[in-house]
Amino acid sequence: MPNTLIQNGTVVTARDTVRADVLIEGERIREVRSGLPADGADRVIDATGLYVMPGGVDAHTHLDMPFGGTTSADDFETGTRAAAFGGTTTIVDFAIQARGTRMRDALDTWWKKAEGRACTDFGLHMIVTDLGHAGLEDMDDMVREGVASFKLFMAYPNVLMVDDATIFKALSQTAKNGALICMHAENGSVIDVIVARALAEGKTAPIYHALTRPPRAEAEAVHRAIAMAEIAGAPVYIVHLSSEDALHEVREARDRGVPAFAETCPQYLLLSIEELERPNFEGAKYVFTPPLRPKNHQPKLWDGLKDDHLQVVSTDHCPFCFADQKILGKDDFTKIPNGGPGIENRLQLLYHYGVNQGQLSLNRFVEITSTAPARIFGMYPRKGEIAPGSDADLVLWDPASDYLISAATHHMRVDYSMFEGFRVRGNARTVLSRGEVIVDGGQFLGRPGRGQYLKRAARGGAWQ
Ligand code: URP
Ligand code: ZN
Ligand code: ZN
Repeated sequence: MPNTLIQNGTVVTARDTVRADVLIEGERIREVRSGLPADGADRVIDATGLYVMPGGVDAHTHLDMPFGGTTSADDFETGTRAAAFGGTTTIVDFAIQARGTRMRDALDTWWKKAEGRACTDFGLHMIVTDLGHAGLEDMDDMVREGVASFKLFMAYPNVLMVDDATIFKALSQTAKNGALICMHAENGSVIDVIVARALAEGKTAPIYHALTRPPRAEAEAVHRAIAMAEIAGAPVYIVHLSSEDALHEVREARDRGVPAFAETCPQYLLLSIEELERPNFEGAKYVFTPPLRPKNHQPKLWDGLKDDHLQVVSTDHCPFCFADQKILGKDDFTKIPNGGPGIENRLQLLYHYGVNQGQLSLNRFVEITSTAPARIFGMYPRKGEIAPGSDADLVLWDPASDYLISAATHHMRVDYSMFEGFRVRGNARTVLSRGEVIVDGGQFLGRPGRGQYLKRAARGGAWQ
């Protein structure tokens, strides 16, 4: 692979912002300093006026995922390609252990889904649905395979939910093997009772998805998850945190020195519950869990990001087409496949509404979209960093580029955008993955199957 010199750019990492050139040798970064000579480089990329940032790391995606009788609309090819257009060069997706089966079966299934398709590097978390007789051994086995994190559900009874004993056993195992438990924290039993009452009263429209999943049901589960993690002596990571109530629980724990971490998603920072009231069933486009909250939660989440009570912004990208998938719940909101698309727009939205609007420094932007997820999920400093030895996963970011988000132009394989009509300033111009230019000026230059599986290290280190 040729040597590449990126010249005249401004290198932005989670730590600092400096005028420097970046020399890439093969797949890795060789040197970072100003005034690197161009002779000897096979290719020179002029980054005048651009930020050179580590490629985005999206630690929460669902590609080709079965859910509610259908499958998420992006597979590993279309999903990672769309991610690359938006400047994300690493994803961590979720394999799902089917009840009564071994985790290795799920890992094999998800490797096959990615094989020949992934355009960027990817890791896998394992969703644990059943510890059975061999579950704890399976967890250790997964850690050896680089699956250094597990997701457990406190919601969706009879489908994905596990009981507190299972959660506690899994947490205790990670206290030994160094993996990280990611928690979908909502009290599923309580929610199911509220849902049954709503349906009995004939409340079937999309808005009832949000009204039957109150913020307190999220906060209660976050509190319980953290308490169980404390008893087990393990760290815990709350996924897709959506509300002020839940954030309060994380903040309180962190203030006591507990290794509790949490992510939120662009949809919770920028959209609110009113979206679910859109006419003609269009509210279904915004049905995912936890649901969108009243607008007053949004500034609290931004504050959480600023103050490091929230460490990461992921997408929870889980797209279902409106026309033939969301429609499954036309007469009953519980049958609407849960999930929304966003893998392509995370950096654009966070840059525009975070950096441009003064909510985030440039360095904090890099930290929450790349460096922190790389660290927490055992990929740092290979990913999430611009330093000698790191993978040359880089985004050349044009802060002056105007971009209109729309389903008409996006690259996700889904027929709507949750952020339709949002006009942002700042976008990826050139994207490199392990030294290879995979996106340039709106053109995809990568190739399906070039993305590699990432064996992630247990004890990412963020809590040590
Ligand atoms: O509604 C959502 N979030 N769908 C994806 C699965 C999950 O819970 O993350
Ligand atoms: Zn979840
Ligand atoms: Zn998810």
